[in-house]
Amino acid sequence: MKAVIPAAGFGVRFLPLTKDQPKEMLPVVHKPTIQYVVEEAVAAGITDILVITGRGKRSLEDHFDRSLDLEMLLERQGRTKELDMIRKISNMADIHYIRQKNPNGLGDAIHLARRHVGNEPFAVMLGDNIHRSEVPVVKQLIDVHEQVGGSVISVEAVPQEKLKDYGNIKAKKISDRLYQVLDLIEKPGPEEAMSNLGITGTYVLTPKIFDCLERTPPGRGGEIQLTDALRLLNTTDPIYGYVFEGTRYDVGDKPGWLRATIDLALQDPELGPQLRPYVAELMKKY
Ligand code: G1P
Repeated sequence: MKAVIPAAGFGVRFLPLTKDQPKEMLPVVHKPTIQYVVEEAVAAGITDILVITGRGKRSLEDHFDRSLDLEMLLERQGRTKELDMIRKISNMADIHYIRQKNPNGLGDAIHLARRHVGNEPFAVMLGDNIHRSEVPVVKQLIDVHEQVGGSVISVEAVPQEKLKDYGNIKAKKISDRLYQVLDLIEKPGPEEAMSNLGITGTYVLTPKIFDCLERTPPGRGGEIQLTDALRLLNTTDPIYGYVFEGTRYDVGDKPGWLRATIDLALQDPELGPQLRPYVAELMKKY
């Protein structure tokens, strides 16, 4: 299965940091955010990845390219550990890029993947979601897709006041974690929410979504919304919501990014032991 990673957004929530650098390159401990996303895809057995980029995102492509001069330097210095690490990044997957020329939204970005994806189901992984889980979240969705068919989207319970930042579903429970989607709405207003389930940003979609995207008019924010296209798809084909197992960090906003940084640093085998006493000290202070 191929994966599409939309990474064309401006990162307005992170200004001024993202004025001139892609939000997907924001570091979380020692890696840029997008590397975690690509690593999740690779861990799920996906090796063909299409990244939808835009203007000013060159550093993202450079990160997954070879760095010949750096490799030569590390080789000369005999720093094999670092050399292996950076070679691994450029060999990790077969990564392709398409630029979204106009900022027309997530749905428009996914539509650009049509020719690359072809007539097969494919995964979509948002460029600002980091997961910690035993089984990669995208693999959990692929497994569900293989069992039940149709399209599968990751969801989680979201506090009422946060639902306005998410796609939201109306759903019928099928089993412990699986829901049949009955309806969808992008970023509902206070009176519009249909459940407490928010769409978290990992999807396995059937190629029919492309025809639906073609027929989707601009929605919230004047942009083509993937959620609106899914709503169209749902009139003819089944869509399932799956409450994934694991932790998700929305690195696209400041609190989520800080949480991911603190949590992952504390879990890191090298950094964790040094940091834990410091954090405990801070907790007493504040
Ligand atoms: C996008 C989707 C939304 C989803 C969210 C998850 O919105 O449109 O349905 O709930 O990602 O992060 P964005 O956060 O890009 O505005």
